[in-house]
Parts: sequence; structure tokens; C-alpha cells
Amino acid sequence: MNRTQIRCLISAGTTREYFDPVRFVSNPSSGKMGYALAKAAVEIGWKVDLVSGPVTLPEPDHTIVYPVVTGDEMLQCISERFPYCDILIMAAAVCDFRPKVFQEQKVKKQSASWTLEFEPVVDILKTISARKTHQIVVGFAAETENVLEYARCKLIEKNLDWIAANTVGFAGTGFESDHNSITLISRTGEQFSFGPDSKTRIATDIIRRLATQLNPPGQ
Ligand code: CTP
Repeated sequence: MNRTQIRCLISAGTTREYFDPVRFVSNPSSGKMGYALAKAAVEIGWKVDLVSGPVTLPEPDHTIVYPVVTGDEMLQCISERFPYCDILIMAAAVCDFRPKVFQEQKVKKQSASWTLEFEPVVDILKTISARKTHQIVVGFAAETENVLEYARCKLIEKNLDWIAANTVGFAGTGFESDHNSITLISRTGEQFSFGPDSKTRIATDIIRRLATQLNPPGQ
């Protein structure tokens, strides 16, 4: 079969790590950036698989959405699909820590004063990019300080082709907001800044820029 459509795998939203059946640790990622990227990728003509943590957004048209909850589920889902994609964009804000112990029953508040121990969640992006064959791998760097410097470190450490650096933790851009500012940095040192602008507009800019690196398969 002669395949001409670019296959894009995108992760979006947050992940949750439960410590009892009704309580979890997480972060406030809304999934808006990842979902905007999925829409922009569909608009440019790519086939899009969207691996999504829990969000309250409607499914973007013409994408296949794979809902996941935990970091391990996200790793599993991305692992299965990565060999078949041309580009992975890891926009999810993966929760980095999980409670060491999961309590099978709801913890009663009478036993309130207890200490929760955490262990690291697997680095999905680093694990997957080590398996690169032909794929372009794009990460996001959510930072509150030294944004570009930390983003460049993640680009190298996680063996990425591009990283989208973004400031989080302040009102107006980043988590939960409809707006964002992104600096897209390539492995070869190119740098492009987008925004402040709507996440929709920025997503289009990012996808167009990445598209210049991707020739349709079979051409
Ligand atoms: N990421 C991942 N798995 C994790 C943590 C992060 O795949 N367990 C991915 C994110 O989706 C993002 C990139 O790695 O594309 C960078 O995530 P970020 O939260 O900025 O950094 P961390 O690697 O978690 O490092 P730190 O929290 O120390 O800044």
C-alpha cells in the first residue's frame, strides 16, 4: 500500500496517580494545548491519534482518542502506537510522582495524620525516544524559571528532535489558560518563538513549522 498521509501521535492533558479509590495526585493541565495541536494537525492533513489523560474537552473531529488515566497507562498506549507514527508530540503534563502504596479502601479522615511516600513515575518521553527509528519526537518543557536553558537540557537528555519551551505557574499563560507563549527549539539549534497568542493559533504555528521537516511518506 502506498501511504501518503503523515501519522501523528499526540499526548495531551494530565495524568493521575491514585493513593486510594477516590483520591489522587495530579497537576492542573487542562489538555487545551494538546487538543489544539491535534486539531491543527488534522487541519494540515495528518492522521491523528490522541492519547489523552482525564480532561473535560470535547473530542477533536477526525482523531482517534485513546483515554488513559495513569502514567503507566499512557506509556503502554504510546508504546503500542509509536512504531506506526511519523511524529510524536508529547504535550501531556505527566504527573511525575506516584504514591508508593495504594490503599484498597478509602482512607478515613479519622486516620488523618499520615505521611504519604512517593516514587517516580517512568519518564515516558525518554523511554519512547530511545526506541526511535524514523520518527520525529517533540517534547514540551514546562518551566517556571530559566525556561530556555532547562528546555535545551531536556532536548538533549530525552534525545528529542524539537522541544516546545513554555512558562507555567503564572496567571495568563500555560496550564488551564486559553493562551500561551512557546519557544520551539530544534536539536540543530534553530529557535522560533510564538505568542503570546491563543493556544489554537500557536498550535497551528507549531504544526506548520514541524511540517517543514516532514515529507509525506512515499514521496
Ligand atoms: N514527560 C514524560 N514522562 C514523565 C514526565 C514528563 O513523558 N514522567 C514528558 C512531558 O510530556 C514533556 C517532557 O517530558 O513532553 C518534559 O516534561 P516536564 O514536566 O517539563 O519535565 P520533567 O521531565 O518532568 O522534569 P522536571 O519536572 O524536573 O522539570
